[in-house]
Amino acid sequence: MNYIDLRSDTVTQPTPAMREAMAKAPVGDDVFGDDPTINQLQELAAEKLGKEAGLYVPSGTMGNLAAILSHCTRGDEAIMGKRSHTFLYEGGGISTLGGVHSCQINEQPNGALALEDIEAVLRDADDPHQPVSRLIEIENTHNRCGGTYQSPEYLRQLGDFAHARGLVVHMDGARLFNAAVAQGVDVKQLSGPVDSVTFCLSKGLCAPVGSVLCGSREFIKKARKIRKHLGGGMRQAGIIAAAGIVALETMVERLADDHARARKLAAGLRAIPGLLVDEPPTNMVFFNLADSAKVTAEQIEEEMKERGILVHATGARRFRLVTHYWIDDAAVEKTVEGLKQVIGRG
Ligand SMILES: Cc1ncc(COP(=O)(O)O)c(C=O)c1O
Repeated sequence: MNYIDLRSDTVTQPTPAMREAMAKAPVGDDVFGDDPTINQLQELAAEKLGKEAGLYVPSGTMGNLAAILSHCTRGDEAIMGKRSHTFLYEGGGISTLGGVHSCQINEQPNGALALEDIEAVLRDADDPHQPVSRLIEIENTHNRCGGTYQSPEYLRQLGDFAHARGLVVHMDGARLFNAAVAQGVDVKQLSGPVDSVTFCLSKGLCAPVGSVLCGSREFIKKARKIRKHLGGGMRQAGIIAAAGIVALETMVERLADDHARARKLAAGLRAIPGLLVDEPPTNMVFFNLADSAKVTAEQIEEEMKERGILVHATGARRFRLVTHYWIDDAAVEKTVEGLKQVIGRG
């Protein structure tokens, strides 16, 4: 059965153009730096983000980990949001593998970290009791805060704030291009103020595998070594990187379609009594079940699946639906109709 799959944009399949590029890709041993397709992807990514260099990594998780381990040393502290992906969903890798201590602070509703909240947790470098504040991580778009994005102006303020205090900023930009397209700004305006950025090719951009970490040449040299330590030095991986080039060249602008469909989906769901729907800033539609809705989240997941639609509950009464390349207008309408039936029945 071909499901309408709204659980995430990570479920996206590569497009026919990607499969063709993968079949034809020239490849080499990337641990020797010999893979022309990977080199092309890294250069393209760095150029788009206005950074000196890029590094192809197998996942967003490895990109964030390699970045934080490159910037920090054991005993350093990385400041991040309490609901950030790195804190919640990356296995605590920065501490288990790098000895980096996390300091978690509350995000603003839009996913930003307030500068005064960061200031309040900065450590005294001269006090032997305290770890060393070294890095601030900002997530853009912010997954658990509803697919919210950060503006160029806020990122400039954050970068200036960090640099004036001897800290660096890493951006988890798994969905960085969604943030740029939603604001109608060049992605460089988002990447420029921060020291390093990871973005994912394997989410809304539809490539099957991989992320790119970008930053200065010196930083990427360090990250390349750490990627090897983490087991992420791949060989003829140009086969998969080829799809990433197609993703960057052809799949960015169309993210606006996913955002428009997310708004359409939210508008349709809002008309269903029993659902409390957030306005989607990008491609994620979050909603809560009101007390009046008598169905459970598990029942909704099951009964929607019977209708050929996969949806994901992120909590006992909360859902996240994600639009992407493989969700068209008909899929949005079918989803609204399906939820109307399932909620109405309860
Ligand atoms: C905000 C964010 N950062 C990082 C990641 C990690 O990416 P990956 O699944 O490729 O490790 C994800 C994955 O969903 C994410 O949503």
